Amino acid sequence: MRRFLIAGNWKMNAGPTEAKKLADEIAETWNGKSPKSEVLICPPFVSIPFVVKSFRDTALKTGAQNVHSESNGAFTGEISTEMLQELTCEYVITGHSERREFFGETDAVVAAKTKRVVTNELKAIVCVGEKLEERKNDSHRDVVKFQLEAVINSIDNEYASDLVIAYEPVWAIGTGETASPEQAQEMHKFIRSILSDFWSETIADNIRILYGGSMKPGNAKELLSQPDVDGGLIGGASLDSSSFNEIITIAESITK
Ligand code: PGA
Repeated sequence: MRRFLIAGNWKMNAGPTEAKKLADEIAETWNGKSPKSEVLICPPFVSIPFVVKSFRDTALKTGAQNVHSESNGAFTGEISTEMLQELTCEYVITGHSERREFFGETDAVVAAKTKRVVTNELKAIVCVGEKLEERKNDSHRDVVKFQLEAVINSIDNEYASDLVIAYEPVWAIGTGETASPEQAQEMHKFIRSILSDFWSETIADNIRILYGGSMKPGNAKELLSQPDVDGGLIGGASLDSSSFNEIITIAESITK
């Protein structure tokens, strides 16, 4: 059975002081408990050590929002997988739509970064998702298939278990607009079928597919109850510790 992954993506929010406060609030709720779900926070790079420290005595994990595809060298401003490992990060988000849109990350760049992550003993949360026009003109499946295949084509099946896919319809990110549980389930099932055709049904059945895009306490139960929704990648609601804790509590109450 796939274990839920409830992941917070703080984006460019929460510098060290705020990150420590937020992480302490989350840690306080889960301290000494072993949630059934895997719980992760991806803070900005500079805040990672503070979150790691706050989570020290808990089962909560820390990850990064981005990484470079080389291990070191003359890449001003960049961070490598080795550096993230040194900070005890376990996960890295790759291909977030904001990286694609504002930082020009192509499918090839996303594939190279993802490959680097999984071959360096970290796990990748690979984001895919269509824009509003693409949903409207019914090309959303093709767009997602293309984005996903660009990544999995570069990954050997021995690393498939280090992949998590996040379906994030761009029109639902930070907009308050959410995919309906049916729309999410339909796309998640489709993503799983691509993984199954590419590798095998057994491999596909073990890969978690998260939903991202305005997930909040009010819609989490319906979304997370869908058979192919294995967790959430949560932006806005993860910056409020009580909302984020509430989503984890909702995930804990769901049995599939
Ligand atoms: P949101 O962001 O929850 O604020 O919509 C999700 C994401 O971009 O990962």
